[in-house]
Amino acid sequence: MNNTLDNTPSHPHTFTPSLFADVYAGKKVIITGDTGFKGSWLAIWLLNLGASVVGYALPPKTKKDNYLICRLDKKVIHIDGDIRDYQTLLGIFSKYEPEIVFHLAAQSLVLDSYNDPLYTYSTNVMGTVNLLEAVRHTPSVKVAINVTSDKCYENREWVYGYRETDPMGGRDPYSSSKGASEIITSSYWRSFFSQDNTANIASARAGNVIGGGDWADDRIFPDCMRSLLNNKPIAIRNPEAVRPWQHVLEPLSGYLLLGSLLYTEGKKYSAAWNFGPLSKSMVSVRQLVEETIKQWGSGRYIIEHSSDSTPEAGLLHLDISKAVSELNWHPVLDFKQTVKFSIDEYRVDRFTSREIFNQRIKHIKKYIELRQKI
Ligand SMILES: NC(=O)c1ccc[n+]([C@@H]2O[C@H](COP(=O)([O-])OP(=O)(O)OC[C@H]3O[C@@H](n4cnc5c(N)ncnc54)[C@H](O)[C@@H]3O)[C@@H](O)[C@H]2O)c1
Repeated sequence: MNNTLDNTPSHPHTFTPSLFADVYAGKKVIITGDTGFKGSWLAIWLLNLGASVVGYALPPKTKKDNYLICRLDKKVIHIDGDIRDYQTLLGIFSKYEPEIVFHLAAQSLVLDSYNDPLYTYSTNVMGTVNLLEAVRHTPSVKVAINVTSDKCYENREWVYGYRETDPMGGRDPYSSSKGASEIITSSYWRSFFSQDNTANIASARAGNVIGGGDWADDRIFPDCMRSLLNNKPIAIRNPEAVRPWQHVLEPLSGYLLLGSLLYTEGKKYSAAWNFGPLSKSMVSVRQLVEETIKQWGSGRYIIEHSSDSTPEAGLLHLDISKAVSELNWHPVLDFKQTVKFSIDEYRVDRFTSREIFNQRIKHIKKYIELRQKI
């Protein structure tokens, strides 16, 4: 199987100081997965850009989730719903008539996908079909971006990065569901969205994302925060596994930039895009944990030898040359800044929800400032 949306523009866009060309101000944007980690941060950024946000997702999983501690339930129009329920999803699209759609609703964990492949595939594969069908039947939609994962690629344990043209694959149910989601997006583009006067669609692939308000199980950074906050040692299983760590604002800046270009420039940006970190942010789990303990100021870790037989993929990272040269998108934060931003975003126990929300906005502004210095 070969990849996917192949419609790369020939003239790179210049990332201007007025980020995202003011495309989002006053626009109606649907985010699926707004109660999740990345979706909630995307909602905050879009609100700050002046968009009106409609969210569609399952309820948040814990009281400490970013969505709840920022009181996004008071700031967006949120509808509790299942992405597998096409009629309800279509009803939301018909009712709110969005111009821009970001699809982030997914079963997002590899280990959970081994435990429940049926749920993973029905959510991630048929969820993508439902989303694209809803876009297809809603004339107001001008732009839709499907957020998948670096794990969509067939992992050949290469030491070099995967390009957008490399084959889709995935050994475990989660990874293959993301590969399938990409293939579906490509098929919809070729079948329904390549003509004029149809929505401009694209897909976006990113790596291991960290940042405040993520409490998902079996993710290393939330595991670190749970342990450090409870004065317990951090248990790590694969200390030498190297991962492409990114702060959440990095891929989100890529999605927003891509969305603005699809909106203003149209189909020449309808393609698949990698938004990964610089290679120097690709460090091992051990290095991430050691840097986190250092910046936290205390703590320790232990290496746990698991009897669990579920295999974890080895090295997989993204080649971001295409996004750099065609979108003029660049990662901004180095590895230490990535950890620093993230730790600060977890140290909010004594903050009110307003203060937490304002801290998120402050980080977005700081991020933009740093970007403009590049
Ligand atoms: N966090 C990462 O490191 C990372 C890395 C690569 C790709 N991604 C992808 O980015 C997207 C967002 O990830 P995240 O970290 O925010 O995940 P998350 O698990 O924090 O959030 C997932 C969101 O999807 C919603 N959802 C799950 N199943 C649903 C269903 N059946 N119906 C409706 N909504 C449903 C949840 O309610 C939640 O809002 C996902 O597609 C994920 O696979 C995440």
